Amino acid sequence: MPFIIAIDGPAASGKGTIARALAAHFGFHHLDTGLLYRAVGAKGGDPVAAARTLEKTDLSRPDLRSAEAGQAASRIAAIPEVRAALLAFQHRFAGQEPGAVLDGRDIGTVICPGAPVKLYVTASDQVRAQRRAAELGADPVLMLAELQERDRRDRERATAPLRPAEDAVVLDTSNLTITDAIARAVAVVDRARG
Ligand code: CDP
Ligand code: CDP
Repeated sequence: MPFIIAIDGPAASGKGTIARALAAHFGFHHLDTGLLYRAVGAKGGDPVAAARTLEKTDLSRPDLRSAEAGQAASRIAAIPEVRAALLAFQHRFAGQEPGAVLDGRDIGTVICPGAPVKLYVTASDQVRAQRRAAELGADPVLMLAELQERDRRDRERATAPLRPAEDAVVLDTSNLTITDAIARAVAVVDRARG
């Protein structure tokens, strides 16, 4: 049985950084599921059709990291048929030996509810806005508004809203360096693996 690590959290909380580091540390596969929604949003046209025909090459589009792509992603991510169309790919990915790390919004609650490790990564709105602004070379004030709008949409949607699974370990990275955040996440996984 492959070992699954489910990581969720709001925008720019550090989930991707932690997910990549855990995958490297344990030799697991890693999927940034946000890229699936960003790619569907960026394709334009009918989002359900785009989700059904998504190709690997769509995920390496260089423009997917932008704030605009994030906004487009969160709009189409509220459509249940889009989410349903992306389910099989995520389940197949999670089934790979020896294990997989998936990060997103609904991994612990919907995609892999049986995962033995669930992390909910968070940080204050201000810290997240600062980090994303530094990453994109953007204005922190505009970033704050962008992240808050997206988080609200992600939390309030009816299908697969952003929320910690009941059995998730919450990791607040507001005052943690990347190294410390990764060390805590590794410790959680080590504990679960026994
Ligand atoms: O995947 P997610 O959107 O949650 O966040 P990320 O892309 O992993 O992290 C957003 C930015 O914050 C990146 O530039 C990270 O290097 C940075 N970061 C940080 O400064 N401190 C942390 N503890 C985690 C991430
Ligand atoms: O990196 P960041 O946290 O800013 O965003 P992302 O993980 O790339 O996700 C972009 C958008 O896709 C989110 O705001 C969600 O609306 C959506 N998403 C989702 O609904 N479910 C997931 N498992 C992953 C992302």
